[in-house]
Parts: sequence; C-alpha cells; structure tokens
Amino acid sequence: MHQPFGDIAHQYDLLNDLLSFGIHRLWKRRLVSRLLLSQPNPKRVLDLATGTGDVAALFSRNIPAESVVPLDPCKPMIERGKKRFPHLHNWTVGSAESLSLETRSISIVTCTFGVRNFQNRKRAFEEIARVLEPGGLLGILEIHPIPPKIRYTPFRFFWTFLLPKIGMLFKKQSAYEYLRDTGAGFISSEDMIEELSYAFELQTHEKLIAGGLVSLLVFERKNESEITHE
Ligand SMILES: C[S@@+](CC[C@H](N)C(=O)[O-])C[C@H]1O[C@@H](n2cnc3c(N)ncnc32)[C@H](O)[C@@H]1O
Repeated sequence: MHQPFGDIAHQYDLLNDLLSFGIHRLWKRRLVSRLLLSQPNPKRVLDLATGTGDVAALFSRNIPAESVVPLDPCKPMIERGKKRFPHLHNWTVGSAESLSLETRSISIVTCTFGVRNFQNRKRAFEEIARVLEPGGLLGILEIHPIPPKIRYTPFRFFWTFLLPKIGMLFKKQSAYEYLRDTGAGFISSEDMIEELSYAFELQTHEKLIAGGLVSLLVFERKNESEITHE
C-alpha cells in the first residue's frame, strides 16, 4: 500500500514541483498561515501524511520545532524529510488510523494530499478527533475527482494521460498511475465535509483550481457534548 511513495521518495519533491508547477508550495503556505491566524500559539502540531515534511517545516518557521510532529507510514519519505529538515525532531513512522499520541494533546492537525491515501478514512477521522483538543483545528489540502465542468479540458488530458507518462520518464509509471487513480476514485470536498461533520465544524472551504480539483479545508473540532456518535 505504501510502496508507491517508497518507490518515488527520492524524486518526490522534484516531481511535486514539476507536476504542480510549484503551486503546491503556495497552497501549503496558505493553509499554514490560515491555521496560525486562528491559533497563533498552538502547543503541539501534528502533520499527518507528512511525506518529506514540507508543512511541518513551514510551521517550524513560526513555532518551536519541538512542538511539531511530522508523521508518515512510509520510511523512505521520512528519511528524505530528515535530510531536508534536520532541525525537525519528532519524525514519527505511523498511520493516521492508529496514532500513538495522547487524547486531546494536539492543537492543530494538518494533512496535505494524504487523506485519499488513508486505508480506513472513518477510523483515521476518529483518531484525528481523538488527539485534537476541543476547539483544535484540522487543515486539509486534497485533490478530488475532476469536476464535471472541466471534464473535457486540458486538465483531464494532463491528469489521466500525461501524469503517468511523466512517471514513465522517471521509470515509475505505476506510481503515477496510483496517484492518478486514488485522486479519480476519491470523494468530493462536499462529501468529505459531510463525513467530518459529526465531530468537526467547517470554517473554511476554498476551491483552489479548476472549480474544485484541489480544496483547502479548515475545520474546528467540536466540544465533546456536540459530537454525534453513530
Ligand atoms: C502525496 S503524499 C503527500 C506528502 C505531503 N503531505 C505533501 O503534501 O507533499 C501522501 C503521503 O501519504 C502517506 N500515507 C499513505 N497512507 C497513509 C496513512 N494510512 N496514514 C498516514 N499517511 C499515509 C504516504 O506515505 C505519503 O507520504
């Protein structure tokens, strides 16, 4: 399951820049600024599916590095991250579905381009709600299926055809087919908001490109008494 990222870990950052024309950096900065505006002094930040640590490193520009926990199940991605950001201390190998963190110990959780890789989204969302303190924030950047309006535009060509071909150039076509297919088979931002609504109140919903291909979402964790359990 985590093999695709293990295969491309050493090229992940370069490819991320190439495939998004570097825009993913702006989106990540935007998400972190938005979160720190609401919570300027978070006591602990968890960056889930951190990959090579971009978002964790952005937080460490504003809060002590010891307060930031970059977490990912893929060891090669973590190893790459440690080389890029040696000042970050709390690198943790782990999955969103089973967090080795104390209940209500986190002020902000982020997950950029990671939710679609969760094996069990419901379990992962429950874990996020568990570790976040009431009033804590959850920030998500995610890629969704191509919105119907742009289904027959160059975006579709890029995403379904060109992306795996670029992967082929890097001799990792299957990894890029995996990235494309997990995006295409994923839910819309509206459905994700609905799935999270039992424990999280939506604060921000931005559709960043192409009418919703990428979304920026910020949620506030509800108080215990407001959380609805099935
Ligand atoms: C597309 S990368 C995103 C990395 C980074 N957040 C970024 O925005 O550049 C997706 C990451 O999700 C991680 N991942 C896969 N399954 C996961 C899970 N169950 N829990 C947490 N992270 C997971 C992968 O190992 C990979 O590093």
